[in-house]
Amino acid sequence: MPLWPGGVVAPFAASDCFFCRLPGYTAPHTLGTGGDQDRGRTVAPCVNEPGGRSCEQESALMTEASIRPAEQTDAVPLGAALGDQRYFEDRLTRQAKGLGVLFTAWRGRTPVGALYLWLEDAEEPPIRGHLPGVPLLTHLEVLPDQRNRGIGAALVRAVERHLADHGHARGALAVRTDNTRAARLYRRLGYRDWGHGTVVCYSERTLPDGRTVSEPERCHVLVKGLPPVIRQR
Ligand SMILES: CC(C)(COP(=O)(O)OP(=O)(O)OC[C@H]1O[C@@H](n2cnc3c(N)ncnc32)[C@H](O)[C@@H]1OP(=O)(O)O)[C@@H](O)C(=O)NCCC(=O)NCCS
Repeated sequence: MPLWPGGVVAPFAASDCFFCRLPGYTAPHTLGTGGDQDRGRTVAPCVNEPGGRSCEQESALMTEASIRPAEQTDAVPLGAALGDQRYFEDRLTRQAKGLGVLFTAWRGRTPVGALYLWLEDAEEPPIRGHLPGVPLLTHLEVLPDQRNRGIGAALVRAVERHLADHGHARGALAVRTDNTRAARLYRRLGYRDWGHGTVVCYSERTLPDGRTVSEPERCHVLVKGLPPVIRQR
């Protein structure tokens, strides 16, 4: 079982693949996902995921991808690799105000994926009403040629570990009703329908002229309970 900052034990085997790295992986400086004890340290090999692929298999496919919260200077490379630099600038501004965390996946110096953890009130009234204060996993994206290697799952698990470490009991997300691929991934990771029907959610997009538009989409809302972090004496 892996240790977490301050001698905390993170008791969720299914999430251990956040630190599924190739042997010899050295943890970068992070905003709390790995904590001081992981900084600059070689992270231990992960444990196997019950009923699924082994972490070793996931590591092999995730070859050399690493995950960390973004830094202010990452907006340009994120925009260049994933598009929509203004979106990333906006999320980094919110992160600097403590309103969220932008998680990023990298191969070397190249971003290959991102997920923004929204810690503000949900913009969608039904989600605000039924899930007050529940953090939202938003804008998960992996570059097309980097998909099916476990990077999307690793980003989600990184966020879950961050949330559990910060005392959150649940995480939620909205996925378009026609996005069966992403929904399958979320269900495999333990997210379940919230039981209040579909909602109109909003997808932000920056137009070529720099304006940001919010486009309505019909979405399923999925929720997952996060295991509590047990602190060692
Ligand atoms: C949805 C998305 C983020 C998934 O990213 P990804 O990196 O491909 O995700 P993963 O690799 O973790 O999982 C994808 C599939 O690869 C499979 N896979 C992952 N690692 C694997 C491995 N080591 N061996 C075999 N299969 C593997 C997973 O089982 C999963 O299969 P499934 O589709 O049957 O669930 C990506 O497809 C994407 O960016 N889509 C466009 C944006 C989008 O729709 N975002 C979601 C918004 S809500």
